[in-house]
Amino acid sequence: MKALKATDPAVFEAIRKEEKRQKEKLLLIASENFASPAVLAAQGCLMTNKYAEGYPGRRYYGGCQHVDTVESLAIERAKQIFGAEHVNVQPHSGSQANMAAYLSVLKPGDVILGMDLAQGGHLTHGSKVNFSGMLFHSYFYGVDRSTEQIDYDAVQRIAEECRPRMLVVGASAYARTLDFPRFQKIAQSVGAYLMVDIAHIAGLIAAGLHPNPVPYADFVTTTTHKTLRGPRGGIVMCKAEHAKAVDKFIFPGMQGGPLMHVIAAKAVALQEALLPSFHTYQRQVLANAKALASGLMERGYRVVSGGTDTHLMLVNLGVKGVTGKEAETALDAAGIIVNKNTIPYDEKPPAVASGIRLGTPVVATRGMKEAEMGEIVGLIDRVLQKPQDKRAQREVRKEAKVLCSRFPIFHPYDAPPV
Ligand SMILES: Cc1ncc(COP(=O)(O)O)c(C=O)c1O
Repeated sequence: MKALKATDPAVFEAIRKEEKRQKEKLLLIASENFASPAVLAAQGCLMTNKYAEGYPGRRYYGGCQHVDTVESLAIERAKQIFGAEHVNVQPHSGSQANMAAYLSVLKPGDVILGMDLAQGGHLTHGSKVNFSGMLFHSYFYGVDRSTEQIDYDAVQRIAEECRPRMLVVGASAYARTLDFPRFQKIAQSVGAYLMVDIAHIAGLIAAGLHPNPVPYADFVTTTTHKTLRGPRGGIVMCKAEHAKAVDKFIFPGMQGGPLMHVIAAKAVALQEALLPSFHTYQRQVLANAKALASGLMERGYRVVSGGTDTHLMLVNLGVKGVTGKEAETALDAAGIIVNKNTIPYDEKPPAVASGIRLGTPVVATRGMKEAEMGEIVGLIDRVLQKPQDKRAQREVRKEAKVLCSRFPIFHPYDAPPV
């Protein structure tokens, strides 16, 4: 960091401020986490200097012995954790992992069926503003109006109507366990490939706390930076029969040189995910989410679908007369970081939204447990009771900072030079 400070004080200063923000605020963004010192060290290492187009043992550049080692380790560890027949760890992001899975077997103009973005799905599952909706004819399923959970009979019906080539499963804002055998049956009944995007729940699956889709799906994609707690990036897993097509589509089809420093960090994160402490961590993520959801419900908040089976929840603020946007702004001022989110059948546009999405991966990484979730519920409630009350926000901000200081995080400047 000394070199960075001397070379570029402006960037150094922004990083320092970001570090302070991460240390002093309660981060409840469901898709974020704090990567470990070991992951950060690998991601900041000099493997960023290496070109390595191709795959271990068959590269287009010399000098790839050591980057081959880290990529092979990442692949083997992912196979061990998820039981996949084939793994590609090169996608630069979750979106690129999804693009690779689609285009390894689909052609532009094919039909895909995914979960509606407005009901919890992801942009890359067919949204018209995303490549997936531009390249493919996309159709959507969602949740039942009363249970607010996926209506599997409706998925079957829609699949029979639109006859997709690919059924896409997975979500960004859905808190319930996914029924993979049922999705497989639906896909098989209409002759579709099944792709499951586990970006959000990968860590829970790795720890055996959510069913694993790998036995049921042709393709399983994930990000590595959410519950999995690694560097930003993506992974594609697939059946052996699709291995060649996936590898070919990622390189040379879609990407150039792999980010070998990030792949090294993926290997480290996957090694961490094999440890018993990772299982303990994921159990706490779940316990915290349940405590947060039930604490909020006790105070009269409506948690979509009545609870959570995962690390996240959607809170419908309609009953409290607050919009998602107002809540996000007021909580931010109070040192509690969340994102506004539409709720199923929301009448408000996404930029306003009727709800917020909360997640526990970061606070659990800090070491917070159920008791602290109770404190957080109290802080959130104090702010949302009167979202315009600046004094309440100032007071809560101070208390949030004190709470965070009881659970200090790793200081990146302590990272050993690599
Ligand atoms: C379900 C799902 N898939 C894919 C992605 C995309 O990941 P990335 O932001 O790395 O492109 C996300 C990101 O939020 C996600 O929630």
